[in-house]
Amino acid sequence: MKIIRTKDYDDMSRKAANIISAQVVLKPDCVLGLATGSTPIGLYNRLAECYDNGDLDFSQVTTVNLDEYKGLTREDPQSYYYFMNENLFQKVNINKDRTFLPDGTEPDSEKACRQYNEILASVGQVDIQLLGLGHNGHIGFNEPDSFFKTETHCVTLTEQTIQANRRFFESEEDVPRQAYTMGIKTIMSARRILLVVSGEDKAETVKNAFFGPVTPQVPASVLQLHNDVILVADEAALSKVGELL
Ligand code: F6R
Repeated sequence: MKIIRTKDYDDMSRKAANIISAQVVLKPDCVLGLATGSTPIGLYNRLAECYDNGDLDFSQVTTVNLDEYKGLTREDPQSYYYFMNENLFQKVNINKDRTFLPDGTEPDSEKACRQYNEILASVGQVDIQLLGLGHNGHIGFNEPDSFFKTETHCVTLTEQTIQANRRFFESEEDVPRQAYTMGIKTIMSARRILLVVSGEDKAETVKNAFFGPVTPQVPASVLQLHNDVILVADEAALSKVGELL
């Protein structure tokens, strides 16, 4: 694992955006695996700036997102589709027909997951999979003890994740209890993984995930087994592993 230590959140966002930009420049028809959450917002802003400056062209890029809440439509401001549209898709010249997320409106979980697996198979290998890190070590919505489940599946969110996501909703009752997520096998099959982490509140998780044993109790720890992972993290997020670097 290559670890890039950055000064702060902005620095993390710029450096991680540079890695994605380089991918798009080198392979204009690349497949990007994308994530939602607070951490990548600065990175997406930066990519949009690069597009505005004429440095990036997304016209041939395909994207596949990690996950989507079950039960939310694309128009719902809390859906991950809406998030992606707000933060990236509508700001750049990407072909929206080439942007994919699990279908949150499909009530039949088996069908939704099967359809997303078919999409993933049809787009081919992901060139860079962007990931954030949950406080409990989750990646996508692969929660602790999910036994490294393989492909797209429906998960019931843990209490900790519901609490963490609560800030985006009006009340706790509004936080969806289930989501469709890419599985660990799918995430691990990306050519390269780019993980962005910021803040002292993630420092313990970073230590457990990347300097502890590989275990389903800390899903991100499986990334230790991938041969091309770049962790771009700020000083605060690396504050508990300083002596181990
Ligand atoms: C988002 C996702 C989640 C987040 C994680 C960190 O698509 O799959 O795993 O990456 O919960 O979220 P933030 O960045 O909000 O701390």
